[in-house]
Amino acid sequence: MKVLVTGGLGFIGSHTVVELQNKGFEVVIIDDLSNSSEKVLDGIVAITGKKPLFEKIDLKEKSKVEDFFKRHTDVQGVIHFAASKAVGESVEKPLLYYENNIGTLVYLLKELSKKDKASFIFSSSCTVYGQADKMPITEDAPVKTAESPYGNTKQMGEEIISDTCKVVPSLNAIALRYFNPMGAHPSTEIGELPIGVPQNLVPFITQTGMGLRDQLSVFGDDYPTSDGTCVRDYIHVVDLAKAHVVALQRLFEAKNKENYEVFNLGTGKGSTVLEVIKSFEKVSGKKLNYKIVPRRSGDITEAYANTEKANNVLGWKAESTLDEAMKSAWDWEQKVRA
Ligand SMILES: NC(=O)c1ccc[n+]([C@@H]2O[C@H](COP(=O)([O-])OP(=O)(O)OC[C@H]3O[C@@H](n4cnc5c(N)ncnc54)[C@H](O)[C@@H]3O)[C@@H](O)[C@H]2O)c1
Repeated sequence: MKVLVTGGLGFIGSHTVVELQNKGFEVVIIDDLSNSSEKVLDGIVAITGKKPLFEKIDLKEKSKVEDFFKRHTDVQGVIHFAASKAVGESVEKPLLYYENNIGTLVYLLKELSKKDKASFIFSSSCTVYGQADKMPITEDAPVKTAESPYGNTKQMGEEIISDTCKVVPSLNAIALRYFNPMGAHPSTEIGELPIGVPQNLVPFITQTGMGLRDQLSVFGDDYPTSDGTCVRDYIHVVDLAKAHVVALQRLFEAKNKENYEVFNLGTGKGSTVLEVIKSFEKVSGKKLNYKIVPRRSGDITEAYANTEKANNVLGWKAESTLDEAMKSAWDWEQKVRA
């Protein structure tokens, strides 16, 4: 089974390529290296003993996407990670985000619609729920007005796939709404490598722990949560990667109930920012330099997943604890900076 992984050299993509290859899938990666490096291939080879095919293509170039599918007629499934993902940047450069996250999706779906049968997995996000009214969040919680162009691309992306599936019965798709991915492969051969200032809490913590950043700012300790800081559902990237393989197998084996389905991918457990800091201090044995500062606009109070649908229908469950995921993130940070 040949699977195209777009953005396969990025954080979640590279871990998914490893899990796909471990299960015997033949993988071809498309990545334009805009937020990754070709060196990630070496890490994948070190773990799996197999080098996936790699093509450096910018998916915004429609003719190159068409040409790729003419050359790889045997691609049966696509996992689409490639996207721009910095929320703040999306506010500054909305058109870049709509072009990169929506344009590329349309080109891929056009190609897949030409096939007799095609399977498609989309990287969505819990950001589509905004501040949900009820915790934990189920898949039928209403989609709220997006806070940023980035969030909007995930909502629109889901709608585009859903609309396409209605008229293209040969297309089977699953949107996976990730909660907060973190961590690295236990081998420390691959992990998260943010360019510039990390946008996510965990790499900011590990970089601060390494002395690359002076101090972590904790935005607000007056939220209505157990310790006043925001609550998120942190999921180990290896657990997340495995869910993609399970989702793809569901489509390949025609086990899906409808030709467009949505699943939450989280642990079901919420952790506050201070709990995440404590986890870092526990696994690293270091004190983290952090400061409570005023709330930041756009932050929601809490978001954690109801995982029943993923557990019972998809047949997947996150296994790792926050401490295990944090240890992998810290091991990776230390290796990268060594
Ligand atoms: N990391 C998170 O916290 C998170 C949470 C929810 C959803 N997501 C989504 O998951 C997906 C993967 O996220 P990630 O954290 O691995 O990001 P990442 O930036 O590490 O990976 C994305 C990869 O796509 C590539 N890419 C971007 N635009 C491209 C283009 N036009 N053509 C070819 N390649 C292109 C980048 O070079 C990069 O290697 C994204 O769609 C993101 O929006 C991520």
